[in-house]
Amino acid sequence: MAKGKGTAFFCKECGYESVKWLGQCPACREWNTFVEEPVGKKEAPGKRGLGIQALSQGGQYERGKVRPSRLSEITIDEQDRMKTGFGELDRVLGGGIVKGSLVLVGGDPGIGKSTLLLQVCRNLAGFGRKVLYISGEESLKQIKLRANRIGAVSGEPLFLCETNLELIDTAIEEEKPDVVIIDSIQTMFREEIASAPGSVSQVRESTNLLMQIAKGRGIAVFIVGHVTKEGVVAGPRVLEHMVDTVLYFEGERSASYRIIRGVKNRFGSTNEIGVFEMLENGLAEVKNPSEYMLNGRPEDASGGVVACSMEGTRPVLLEVQALVTPTVFGMPRRTAAGTDYNRVNLLMAVLEKRCRYDLSHFDAYINIAGGMKMNEPALDLAIVMAIVSSMKDRAVDSKTVIFGEVGLSGEVRAVSMAQQRAWEAEKLGFHTCILPRICLDKMKQTGKIKLIGVENIREAIGLL
Ligand code: TYD
Ligand code: MG
Repeated sequence: MAKGKGTAFFCKECGYESVKWLGQCPACREWNTFVEEPVGKKEAPGKRGLGIQALSQGGQYERGKVRPSRLSEITIDEQDRMKTGFGELDRVLGGGIVKGSLVLVGGDPGIGKSTLLLQVCRNLAGFGRKVLYISGEESLKQIKLRANRIGAVSGEPLFLCETNLELIDTAIEEEKPDVVIIDSIQTMFREEIASAPGSVSQVRESTNLLMQIAKGRGIAVFIVGHVTKEGVVAGPRVLEHMVDTVLYFEGERSASYRIIRGVKNRFGSTNEIGVFEMLENGLAEVKNPSEYMLNGRPEDASGGVVACSMEGTRPVLLEVQALVTPTVFGMPRRTAAGTDYNRVNLLMAVLEKRCRYDLSHFDAYINIAGGMKMNEPALDLAIVMAIVSSMKDRAVDSKTVIFGEVGLSGEVRAVSMAQQRAWEAEKLGFHTCILPRICLDKMKQTGKIKLIGVENIREAIGLL
């Protein structure tokens, strides 16, 4: 660290600290992310300097006296999980909000983070919890306007507009809420840090203080963090390792649905998603995303194939669309929206080599309808079938679901949780399912949905 000089360089992406400017961050390998920031003096080690364990034991701490515990001595209270009133969010959190946890909610500006958390605030207050919503971005009047939009607020959530964390700390100390919401971390600052709000050291130190508040007093803290690509503020990735749970709120601005995705969770599984829809009066849960994704699908159009992808423990049906047209330039164009471009190229190469399709004179556009982003290999077979369907201009039966991973020799490989995928398709009224043959052995034929196992793509194309 630059002692005496008073400044150091920080990576905006990951928070890596260096004495001199670097073009590439040695930690996260991003280019051109270093910014110079003043380094403030460190606090004298007082109560703030205590370790997590001492804090969670209520600060009962003497120098040189930390005692390890046996597993049997640690008790877990099931009551420790609070329901948010949104089943979709509870599942992503691993079953509810854990007491004393620190949850980071990241997302692009304007995606609906404040709206979601205000609704959570309302729900929790309705269940008799004490909630404190601290905004550093909006005035109390603006919050009131938003609250009016989302409808009746039962209970008495508290609101505070403040950005100074030392003052916020005392307010929390006084009010003793169960849940605190900080909107957003990039507006918060600590007096003893010399740099501006939103800078790497401010964001990091602010989160540190919030962590001590959460662990020390058993308060669940939600932190909103804006994701900025090339912005001047430090991104939430700087704090990902400090918090217990990281949720990302994503979605196309143009589409009304929003997905909340768990990328890190110390209290549950990751890869879970919750689906919401942005309405006139706030966010509403989408209980059945498959139905929602397939809404308005054209029947009997060539190039459209319904696939099934797993999002955590939940199967989601979606439509893979392909448009294959003769190319007018020498170089065929390929695009992939919502899925991996390189994977699409690879699958087309497999089709050329293993099935002798000549795709070099065709442009191919692949799209996951509804604006969802899916990169699961289980989509492979559906992408292949969509390409072939569009090229031959022959529609795939609209009541057929297709999934399976495609290998380089054109073989169809097993995917996980095939049974759940088939059940989901059956639930939505599909009557045929084309899937890897290997998966078929372990599955039950329920009668309602016909399961067809295929070994390679040629066999699958033969069914078209
Ligand atoms: P907001 O929660 O302010 O986003 P963030 O906190 O992530 O920056 O969301 C703002 C957007 O949501 C804005 O474009 C308006 C829209 N919106 C609705 O469509 N319906 C509503 O009921 C509300 C409150 C907002
Ligand atoms: Mg906001």
